Amino acid sequence: MNFKDKVAVVTGAGGTLCSVIAYEIASLGAKVVLVGRTAEKLEKVKEKIDAIGGDCMIYPCDVTDKTAIAQLAQTVKEKYGLCDFLINGAGGNNAKAMPTLTKFDKRELDGTLPEGERGIYDIDMDAFESVLNINTMGTVIPTLEFAKQMAQKGGGAVVNFASMNSYCPLTRCFSYAMSKAAIANLTQSFAAYFAPANIRVNAIAPGFMVNERSKNYLGTVEDGLTARGQAVIDHTPAGRFGEAYDLVGCAKWLLDCDASGFVTGITVPVDGGFLTLGGV
Ligand SMILES: NC(=O)c1ccc[n+]([C@@H]2O[C@H](COP(=O)([O-])OP(=O)(O)OC[C@H]3O[C@@H](n4cnc5c(N)ncnc54)[C@H](OP(=O)(O)O)[C@@H]3O)[C@@H](O)[C@H]2O)c1
Repeated sequence: MNFKDKVAVVTGAGGTLCSVIAYEIASLGAKVVLVGRTAEKLEKVKEKIDAIGGDCMIYPCDVTDKTAIAQLAQTVKEKYGLCDFLINGAGGNNAKAMPTLTKFDKRELDGTLPEGERGIYDIDMDAFESVLNINTMGTVIPTLEFAKQMAQKGGGAVVNFASMNSYCPLTRCFSYAMSKAAIANLTQSFAAYFAPANIRVNAIAPGFMVNERSKNYLGTVEDGLTARGQAVIDHTPAGRFGEAYDLVGCAKWLLDCDASGFVTGITVPVDGGFLTLGGV
């Protein structure tokens, strides 16, 4: 019963993966704070949690906004008490930060790429920086704020979101891959720093999970795969994409101090075996 009445802050809680994790820990009795920028997405998750008699609140804000996160922490303390668990799920990529090309083409030098193709010099650098910021500072800022509460309470657990890109970058994902590699590293250094406060910091590295956007660029096993989707499936021994529910057991394990009390600073791949193959 390590979730009953625990206070859990979940960022990215309106999204595909963390909406399910938020729901599951609420169903075990945690008081869950649903954080994301879009209130409507959070409301939908709240409705589901309300429907099972769970306790949750929504707090629309941007995780990269220090002032907003400090206000969130104050609100959480007043409404539910000090935080026990933080799930840093907010994050993502931005197509404008990616080229369409997978490798350098000399036509990039004289601007003669075909219409619709984008090389590395056509990337929107503001988008590039924003991906870095959301995925890195969007984890750092909430962690620093809520680790204060966990330290005051005598301990807690943080779960970050890494990626397959944390281990080896996919093509075209420069800023996303760089930021998710940073998350694996940050998970280690924060774990070491906060260990004396009895705060464990770990990460989940999801493999290729189905979400609304993935259907566009990977396709689906049922209705047909894109070339990239086929490459992923060929590289995934489980032979399928992951579903949000595939992460729930790992998230619960990493949060539960009885189950994983001696586990800190690790990134756990939940990937259908993607990392077991070299791709050849
Ligand atoms: N799906 C996958 O295959 C996969 C694989 C590896 C890693 N991941 C990682 O797992 C995490 C969850 O992914 P997902 O598939 O559930 O993505 P998702 O459906 O896009 O959910 C991410 C959520 O984060 C919120 N968010 C983004 N930027 C934010 C910001 N600055 N402040 C507050 N909230 C913000 C978004 O809501 P708003 O736009 O309303 O703010 C969105 O609901 C992400 O970190 C992602 O990078 C996903």
